[in-house]
Amino acid sequence: MNDEKVARVEAWVRENMLSDGGAHDWLHVDRVRLLAEAMARTEGARMELTLLCALLHDISDYKLNGGDRTKAAAMARQRLTEDRFDAQTVDLVSDYLTVSGFSQSASQDRSQWPLEWKIVQDADYLDALGAVGVARVFWFAGHRGEPIYSDPELPPVGEWSDRVKRTRSTLAHFEKKLLRLHDSMLTSSGRALGEARHKRMLDFVNGLVEEWNCHDVAKLEQS
Ligand code: ADP
Ligand code: NI
Repeated sequence: MNDEKVARVEAWVRENMLSDGGAHDWLHVDRVRLLAEAMARTEGARMELTLLCALLHDISDYKLNGGDRTKAAAMARQRLTEDRFDAQTVDLVSDYLTVSGFSQSASQDRSQWPLEWKIVQDADYLDALGAVGVARVFWFAGHRGEPIYSDPELPPVGEWSDRVKRTRSTLAHFEKKLLRLHDSMLTSSGRALGEARHKRMLDFVNGLVEEWNCHDVAKLEQS
């Protein structure tokens, strides 16, 4: 691996990525890079490819660039080609940025992905789970002016399905995506880290349900 060239890419990402100032920012990319680096070591993946995919994965998020899902791949291709990374690496990084923009789509057979793509996808999911995931989701929704939830009654998590999903609220994003992410991990290191982070997130959500409905007041009456 050429450490100097990777460090130059890192500096370029810090200067050029589109940031929303809280959920998609350099610090998110830095955490994904650190997670992916450790996972690549455990899984025996190609380190340079893993780091480049992690560093560049949010260079131009479509939610922040006016909806263009191809821009990130084009920017990465141009930057890596200028610095004379080999053609296979350039292709693999820019193809990852193309497919990850559509990774929720059912047409993707992610089991066929190169290991390095799987690791970076899992690392990105890990940063949407756990305590950091809770902080990011409320930051993102607050930034967009979305309410926490829109009903005085919040059912237990096991009964959320349609009722919570239909609301335009932060909790709908938990139901639609965050509480399912741990089942979408593609690597064993992602699954191992994901289980602990999922549990921490679920503990938080269960606490939120209890307090939202003020069920803890029952404890006052018992004391
Ligand atoms: P990434 O691009 O890093 O893979 P996403 O773009 O899906 O991840 O989300 C970035 C962060 O913003 C995550 O923490 C996610 O929970 C949060 N987020 C994404 N979409 C929504 C939404 N509709 N409502 C609230 N939070 C969201
Ligand atoms: Ni990301």
